[in-house]
Amino acid sequence: MTAWQFGFHDFDPDDEGRREALCTLGNGYFATRGAAPESRADGVHYPGTYVAGCYNRLTTTVADHEVETESLVNMPNWLLLTFRLNDGPWFDLTQVDLLDHEQELDLERGILVRRLRFRDRQARTTRVVQHRFVHMASPHLAGLETTLVAEDWSGTLTLRCGIDGNVANTGVARYRALGDRHLVDYHTAEISPNIVVLQARTSQSHIRIAEAERARIYLGDEPIDAKRSLLRHANVIAHDLTVEVQRGTEVRVEKIVSLHTSRDFATTEPVAESVEQVRDAAGFDGLCRSHSLAWARLHRTFHYGLSMSEAARQAVHLHLFHLLQTISPNSTDLDVGLPARGLHGEAYRGHVFWDELFILPTLSLRMPQLARLLLHYRYRRLRQARNAARDAGFAGAMFPWQSGSNGREESQLLHLNPRSGRWLPDHTHLQRHIGIAVAHNIWHYYQATGDDEFLSDYGAEMILDIARFFSSLAQYDHSRDRYVIRGVVGPDEYHTAYPGRDRPGIDNNAYTNIMTAWLCRTAVRLLHELPAERRDELTDALDIRHHETDRWNRIAQRMFVPFHADGIISQFEGYDRLAELDWDAYRGRYGDIQRLDRILEAENDDPNRYQASKQADVLMLFYLLSAEELEDILTRLGYPMPAETIPDNIDYYLRRTSHGSTLSAVVHAWVLARGHRHRALEFFDEVLASDIHDTQHGTTNEGIHLAAMTGGVDLLQRCFAGIEVRDGMLRFNPLWPTELGPLELSLRYRGLPLTIKVTGRTITVRSALGPAHRRVTCACGPRTVHLGPGETARFSLEHPPRGGDPTAFPP
Ligand code: BGC
Repeated sequence: MTAWQFGFHDFDPDDEGRREALCTLGNGYFATRGAAPESRADGVHYPGTYVAGCYNRLTTTVADHEVETESLVNMPNWLLLTFRLNDGPWFDLTQVDLLDHEQELDLERGILVRRLRFRDRQARTTRVVQHRFVHMASPHLAGLETTLVAEDWSGTLTLRCGIDGNVANTGVARYRALGDRHLVDYHTAEISPNIVVLQARTSQSHIRIAEAERARIYLGDEPIDAKRSLLRHANVIAHDLTVEVQRGTEVRVEKIVSLHTSRDFATTEPVAESVEQVRDAAGFDGLCRSHSLAWARLHRTFHYGLSMSEAARQAVHLHLFHLLQTISPNSTDLDVGLPARGLHGEAYRGHVFWDELFILPTLSLRMPQLARLLLHYRYRRLRQARNAARDAGFAGAMFPWQSGSNGREESQLLHLNPRSGRWLPDHTHLQRHIGIAVAHNIWHYYQATGDDEFLSDYGAEMILDIARFFSSLAQYDHSRDRYVIRGVVGPDEYHTAYPGRDRPGIDNNAYTNIMTAWLCRTAVRLLHELPAERRDELTDALDIRHHETDRWNRIAQRMFVPFHADGIISQFEGYDRLAELDWDAYRGRYGDIQRLDRILEAENDDPNRYQASKQADVLMLFYLLSAEELEDILTRLGYPMPAETIPDNIDYYLRRTSHGSTLSAVVHAWVLARGHRHRALEFFDEVLASDIHDTQHGTTNEGIHLAAMTGGVDLLQRCFAGIEVRDGMLRFNPLWPTELGPLELSLRYRGLPLTIKVTGRTITVRSALGPAHRRVTCACGPRTVHLGPGETARFSLEHPPRGGDPTAFPP
């Protein structure tokens, strides 16, 4: 194995789900889990194919409540390929003597290889090698090539090759009580002796799906006419291909599949398109070549030259690989958001949360069009967000905590605690801070790209309407002469109510309040910066008057922020009065306490009672805002916060966090990077391990954690290398851990491609050749350089920073 390969060298039924998720292949349009082609969903294997943005709703009764849930639909399984020898049983891994089994994911070329050798009950030895891809350049195509070698036998080999429409969304045990059959109206057809097609429709969203398959069979390199019989029953269509093989013969089946839906552009209807495309497609090898070329282009754009350990480099490559399989240039024209668990499994039903906050910086600085498409996904749902705000009695736009097809709130009203078996009310939809994430993403995208057009045409409208929502959410509290925000949930989802209080939500979540001050100020600043004509258009269209912007200004100056008596920022009002948890006792009793909420509920206790957080909440402030920005916001609010108190805040919350979300380690690595390098690197290692080692114990099989995967890579660029976009400049404040070896990366800032080399506190920036007018401003410490095409700048900061670095968080 090299840093560009990832794989497994045995077959472990207990671990198969995780491996399938990690070996998923995708292209931003659709993705398919790395399930064995002969398998079905049987508790060990879970074949899953998901098309970006294809959701469907089902209604079920659980715990006496009728609930409607929307899910990313598991599509017909195009992998179906199995075989049998003579009249024996169809191949089953568990019924043979498995001599070898390995899966290898080629991260450079985007190909999954499976090699196995087995001896069957008649002592015949067979070798099988399978290669597959989900095409990165032709997004509707996928291929599976299977080579079988009869090592020591001769006889009849029958291969079954087709499409299995008998699928449902059963990938997550916790959701089993909910409806899972999304596909209806199946039709199958044999188009020609080697092409079959299956079509179906989603039951509620009426998306039509077609998968066509072309199968060709070869003896060695020679195409042969195998005896074919058509199998067409119960939503499956397949050909049985029968050939006589001699000892040592190599039989190869090439299966090319094309998947289309009625959501596609430039199509007439899915069946005709999928049949036509599969008929015209090149052979397996030709497609592999064009596929690998498309990957090579992506790798150049997302280049990270690393000298870290091979395992760490492999993790970085794997993380970027899965990011680009979930969103890629093939997504550019799609109306899709980023599902928190990728297109790799069914956890959170494919919903879109705030997770893009951790992902956008990687995209904006490399393929800004991908960041923009995610922002367009939000823009198209602005109407829904406005309606949601209105229905809840607010103004502006209230984006949903969980979003799917049309931007309606998709958070569940009830959730199952698998530990206690109880269905419980779920108030996490009160995470209003999602709107702040949308606004922050727009602002960051604009800083990274300078895309005035987007800001003016789409971004500004969203920021203004989000600011308007938060302004209406905030209430003026006369007794304090400050604005307060009551009844919300912060990023830490353990606290959804005060103990003993019957209404959900907590008051004055510091993260939400401080970010609201940031938002209101940004909205006012935006109005000043917009071209006058556009500003007038927007203020007219949205009917923004002076009294409203005055209120935003006042909120930016008078928002209430709770502090403990000793100056620590309170996660929310009253957090310090909650009971302390005996962390050692719980760790001693349960070992893994990441999901402390479930443990406590199962003990008939309540996480709301304790100073215990699921993930970074207050510390998110140090993650999103630079030290200067935060200091500036707090000073304006009249809460001067000496930088020396920041480490105390970090320490306080670190001791009270169970890291029940993989996002937590990303934020902790970030905030510890300057002050506690070793601890930061430990968290960084944890982020790199989160899916590879399934550190949340049994969640990776339900889909990867895309934000942690990408956030981990982002730590390299924005945190350790200290690359920040702010105030129209690319700012550097590197504190690169020398033990990681030097770093080289490519990025694109405001249209100029840059190669950046970092080691310790030194950074070199080289820009590619290009039009002379394209200049960018780079700054490091007190020095500012205007960098033009083909120029190089070198910056070096003192090592270590004079007087230490009291801010203890980057950049
Ligand atoms: C985290 C959220 C996150 C969601 C999806 C939850 O466990 O608490 O912050 O958005 O997972 O990744």
